[in-house]
Amino acid sequence: MPILAPITKPANTDSRGCKRSERLSRYKEIICGNLYRVSTRADLGKKTAEVAAMFDGVARRYDLMNDLMSFGQVRRWRRETVKAIDPNSSHLVLDLAGGTGMSSQAIRNKGAEVLPTDISLGMLSEGKRRFPEVTFVAGNALQLPYKDDSFDAVTISYGLRNVQDTAAALKEMLRVTKPGGRVVIAEFSTPTWKPFRMLYHWYLSSVMPALERFSSNDVAYDYLVESIINWPDQQGLTKLMREAGWADVQWKNLTGGIVALHRGWKP
Ligand SMILES: C[S@@+](CC[C@H](N)C(=O)[O-])C[C@H]1O[C@@H](n2cnc3c(N)ncnc32)[C@H](O)[C@@H]1O
Repeated sequence: MPILAPITKPANTDSRGCKRSERLSRYKEIICGNLYRVSTRADLGKKTAEVAAMFDGVARRYDLMNDLMSFGQVRRWRRETVKAIDPNSSHLVLDLAGGTGMSSQAIRNKGAEVLPTDISLGMLSEGKRRFPEVTFVAGNALQLPYKDDSFDAVTISYGLRNVQDTAAALKEMLRVTKPGGRVVIAEFSTPTWKPFRMLYHWYLSSVMPALERFSSNDVAYDYLVESIINWPDQQGLTKLMREAGWADVQWKNLTGGIVALHRGWKP
């Protein structure tokens, strides 16, 4: 089965310049543009292409490393994320930066339909190998191949930090969410208790590099540490979400704030 939603040539454009494709897909009402086009490296900015290539390189061992580096906490974080999304069998959910589909799987288990969408073809291929029944979509968070107001919920787990322009991605996520729908962002954040924060930063700078030996790409895990340290804290991300147009933004700290779950609503 193909990774990408099957498409044929775009026939014409709709009111917002979205190319209509004549795909025989059950997602034809919401997918616009040519998915093959958005998936080629040449179309991505330099940093985005580098990020995609980096995730291609770690795809095979990505989920194992996640478990190892988080001491299994990632499973609890995923359960909390699903609770915040609160999906049901009538929902269509966009799992942006869905990678190998593990974050999507937890939502699918609640009966919702999920479209994992990612720029790394390596991550998508690995996902498709594991979950052949899922439609994986190649797409860039900065130019989503979906029409306005398509999804009941949009979620992104440990992906927003990697996107070149956070503000633009938050606006793009708002665009494709239905009015009244929600966004749930799971991302590494800042532990609130100072001694714990210091311990965590020691872990990031000393223990993580040692664990990198088990990965297939140590540059990727150096990048991971750097990107976590440079990422805005809970208040900082809340501000960015509000500025992008999300309403009633709140967050919940997990594991003392190592991860924060931010939730907001489309007015
Ligand atoms: C840390 S992984 C998270 C995967 C998955 N959400 C999970 O929880 O296991 C980050 C993912 O973000 C994707 N990504 C980075 N930049 C992106 C972009 N601009 N658009 C879509 N996906 C992107 C990467 O390819 C990678 O698969």
